[in-house]
Amino acid sequence: MILDLGGGFVLRHALAADHEALCRVCLMTGDAGADASAREDDPTLMGQIYAVPYQVLEPDLAFVIEGEPGVSGYLFGALDTAAFYARLEADWYPALQRHVRDPGQDRTAWRNSDWARHAIHHPSLDVPDSLADFPSHGHIDLLPEARGRGVGRRCMEFLEGRLAKAGSTGLFLDVHPRNRGAQRFYAALGYRPVTGGAGTSMFMAKRL
Ligand SMILES: CC(C)(COP(=O)(O)OP(=O)(O)OC[C@H]1O[C@@H](n2cnc3c(N)ncnc32)[C@H](O)[C@@H]1OP(=O)(O)O)[C@@H](O)C(=O)NCCC(=O)NCCS
Repeated sequence: MILDLGGGFVLRHALAADHEALCRVCLMTGDAGADASAREDDPTLMGQIYAVPYQVLEPDLAFVIEGEPGVSGYLFGALDTAAFYARLEADWYPALQRHVRDPGQDRTAWRNSDWARHAIHHPSLDVPDSLADFPSHGHIDLLPEARGRGVGRRCMEFLEGRLAKAGSTGLFLDVHPRNRGAQRFYAALGYRPVTGGAGTSMFMAKRL
């Protein structure tokens, strides 16, 4: 255990054995913070995009929130976003692409998880200039049983501390524009909207 989060929840490092749990949490929070399982036909693809690569590529900053029933969330950080995205492009996505078909460019023909299959074959890995002061990024998702009891705040403050100690000057998060709850959460922690997001991305950032 790294940190006691209270209420029976603890923070510990994420391990390779947690990949299935990471994918489950990602799916259960993947529709702008709500459960996406009714929408997806492959329960693992979102996790392979948004969760598992952090455990594999940046394990020092990859954590799970664990409670009585097991893994109830995750907390990820990438110290150097540009370097992390470069590794996704060079190593992570080429390996995934070998196991996933490309659904093509015609969005009207996409069904269920085809958007994720397309994202795997055509990853969006540009970092806008507006984020130049915020070299690191983070990612947190909690299942309902862990929410609303201060776990999110304690996790983000812990991540900010780790990143600052490693020399980071700022941190950003990519929030779905429809996810008002998460936007209010980040605002309560001192994050402010930053321009440069489009589509399903809205950036919120904080100097460390
Ligand atoms: C968003 C999330 C990480 C917040 O974690 P949490 O443990 O529920 O939040 P906390 O209890 O630590 O709340 C911290 C502060 O944020 C505020 N807050 C948290 N969720 C909020 C919400 N949905 N609406 C308004 N304010 C909220 C709290 O009021 C609290 O403010 P205070 O400390 O000034 O009193 C968590 O609810 C979650 O994982 N939700 C589903 C997935 C998701 O949306 N992830 C973010 C993807 S970008």
